[in-house]
Amino acid sequence: MFKTKEKIIIVDFGSQVTKLIARRIRDLGVFSEIVTLNDLKKIYDFSTIKGIILSGGPATVNSKNFPNIPKSIFLKRIPILGICYGLQLIAKNFGGKIKSGGRKREFGRVILKKNKNSLLTKNFYINNKSEVWMSHQDEVYKLPKGFTKLASTNDSPLTIIENKKNKIYGIQFHPEVTHTKKGLSIIKNFIFSICKIKKQWKIESEKKRIINDIKNTVGDEKVICALSGGVDSSVVALLISKAINKNLICIMVDTGLMRKNEFKFTYRIFKNKYKLNVKLINASKIFLKKLKGVSNPEKKRKIIGRLFIKIFEKEARKYEKVKYLAQGTLYPDVIESKSATGSKTSKIKSHHNVGGLPKKMNLKLIEPLKEFFKDEARKLGAASGLIQSISNRHPFPGPGLAIRILGEVTVQKVKILQEADHIFIQELIKNKLYDKIWQAYAALLPIKTVGVMGDSRTYEYTCVIRAVTSEDGMTADYFNFPKYFLDKISNKIINSVKGINRVVYDITSKPPSTIELE
Ligand code: XMP
Repeated sequence: MFKTKEKIIIVDFGSQVTKLIARRIRDLGVFSEIVTLNDLKKIYDFSTIKGIILSGGPATVNSKNFPNIPKSIFLKRIPILGICYGLQLIAKNFGGKIKSGGRKREFGRVILKKNKNSLLTKNFYINNKSEVWMSHQDEVYKLPKGFTKLASTNDSPLTIIENKKNKIYGIQFHPEVTHTKKGLSIIKNFIFSICKIKKQWKIESEKKRIINDIKNTVGDEKVICALSGGVDSSVVALLISKAINKNLICIMVDTGLMRKNEFKFTYRIFKNKYKLNVKLINASKIFLKKLKGVSNPEKKRKIIGRLFIKIFEKEARKYEKVKYLAQGTLYPDVIESKSATGSKTSKIKSHHNVGGLPKKMNLKLIEPLKEFFKDEARKLGAASGLIQSISNRHPFPGPGLAIRILGEVTVQKVKILQEADHIFIQELIKNKLYDKIWQAYAALLPIKTVGVMGDSRTYEYTCVIRAVTSEDGMTADYFNFPKYFLDKISNKIINSVKGINRVVYDITSKPPSTIELE
């Protein structure tokens, strides 16, 4: 559990959208934290917890060992809202009946009808109806003791229920997803009218607390930090420098796999504008040497990750008195490292970033962003004076262009890709599209195709353009560019970048694809 400030906790039962609940609440100016069932069982002081939300999840309360919260939680007089599995769990605990795997499952948009007014549903209905998003197989069919029915759909008679006296509520649909048109009203009503928590959490004002925490933890010791120029490591470096000034040592390892001009730009900004103690290591030759002949994506990732650590460790050892290592771990990384249900999801890619650094070095970790989502980290950056072109920068993967050059990575391919990517990104900025997109980039396919330029035949590489919208990188939709923009990009890349004679736009979402190609 994080520091003692008023909050709403969300008990995670493994739903794909649990994180969205926390996001919505934080966006409303209230701190919220996701806890596992195990975390919940270990909480002994509930004084700062003003409300509890039980998330959805894949389990069924009709199984023998269904995940359940301790009965004592219901006696604490803290308002509770159960969503989907959370509703079924509340029903089960109070003697309701739940049917499993019946015919009446509901997925997608459903119209719900009001039966009774409640504080929870203020501003939720239009003409006594509301469009909600459902995703459930189990259904509560007998009202639990002490509860009233507030709304129903054709297929679920008990879609919203309340126990007004004890402030316990259950809803079958998902108010946290945007497909539930008035979902935000439910969340607002629950936290403000029922939990009566104050709107007093502002990401910008967290800055002072973080800086003080770092000061108190680190004292006069030294901190080392791998600075990549991405949002997370940049914000971390700025915050720490504000706390301990010259006792922060930033190391920038140039892998030669960054975007055009990015490395030099970042170095100059941190050295000259922010006056940070930055050491630049040019390691591009060794990275390219180790990647020679390697086309397997996982091998590439592992080679880069290991080499990065080796170089960083070698540098860090030169600073004997360093006690701390700073990392840009974000909140989603913290949540994802704990499993709600105990099951392990299959590994899709070995992520490399400056996180997961030297285990052997005996350095203590400082992770100032571990309570925050990516866009909150951006706001913290902006509040600390980080220039917009860094704080609003799209995410960039640790292994860099190596995983955007499919197949073997060579100096020539890196140069070709840097040019194409630069053109694409500059056009996005010029056309005011950059900030509407979560992540955009160019990639190079390992195949050449035939083209014709002037009167000559060409045989060159194919460039893939990718641009997606997303809330947190876990799921994504491809961006719908107007045709004129795609025409312009294709033309400009082919006319300016020698080595590319074909441009294609990737129109897959995540899932089934991933954001990066490797
Ligand atoms: P995927 O490709 O898994 O990517 O859909 C999701 C998000 O993660 C970023 N990504 C990485 N970030 N090190 C990182 O720091 C990595 O190895 C890495 N691989 C993917 C990706 O750019 C997207 O934002």
